[in-house]
Amino acid sequence: MSTTVSPCFSLKTTDPTIGHDFFQLVESNRSRLSKWFDWPNAVKSPQEAERYLKKVKEAESRFLRANFMIHSNGSIIGMAGLGHLDILNKKSDIYYWIDEKHEGQGIISSTCKHILHFGFSKMRLNRICIYCATDNARSITVPERLGFTYEGTLRKAEKLNGNFNDLRLYSMLNEEWTSS
Ligand SMILES: CC(C)(COP(=O)(O)OP(=O)(O)OC[C@H]1O[C@@H](n2cnc3c(N)ncnc32)[C@H](O)[C@@H]1OP(=O)(O)O)[C@@H](O)C(=O)NCCC(=O)NCCS
Repeated sequence: MSTTVSPCFSLKTTDPTIGHDFFQLVESNRSRLSKWFDWPNAVKSPQEAERYLKKVKEAESRFLRANFMIHSNGSIIGMAGLGHLDILNKKSDIYYWIDEKHEGQGIISSTCKHILHFGFSKMRLNRICIYCATDNARSITVPERLGFTYEGTLRKAEKLNGNFNDLRLYSMLNEEWTSS
């Protein structure tokens, strides 16, 4: 299924058959993605990319995640979605990344707006968070631009590349989204 968000990009459901294209995208962004995520280590070939996408799809079928593949001009350019879905407490968090060549165009901000609408209106979530490493300046501007509330910094909350990162925690509540 595909949703056109703007004339320049659309969001599609997870498709494990595009392992080759997904691998090429990760490969050309590997160094910048590996600074903030550990999953690129599990995507070192087209076959591993397909396996990774199958796992994403499986997590979706178990209601642990809702994933969107960002496409432009017929090619995948990034990925975003809701992770750590907690149906009991009606909360989740948003993740996002985009190809370097497509940065600075507002695609991630628009994608997050679509995900917020999906999470609050369709999934009836109560709270959606965004976690950003304190030194990921570019990512921090995303929740701030969208009007999330900064709740504080979680100290050494994520282990990545052998280091423990401090994470800034941002949240948006359903009532804040619907009244904005
Ligand atoms: C973090 C990341 C997703 C942000 O991507 P981005 O392209 O900067 O984000 P947006 O799509 O919201 O674009 C914002 C930029 O587009 C501009 N823009 C243009 N039109 C816009 C619009 N309609 N709405 C919002 N911003 C718009 C903004 O002014 C801003 O410009 P700037 O680069 O001068 O600040 C990207 O840098 C990335 O993939 N980084 C590596 C992975 C990563 O860090 N992921 C997050 C881990 S927590």
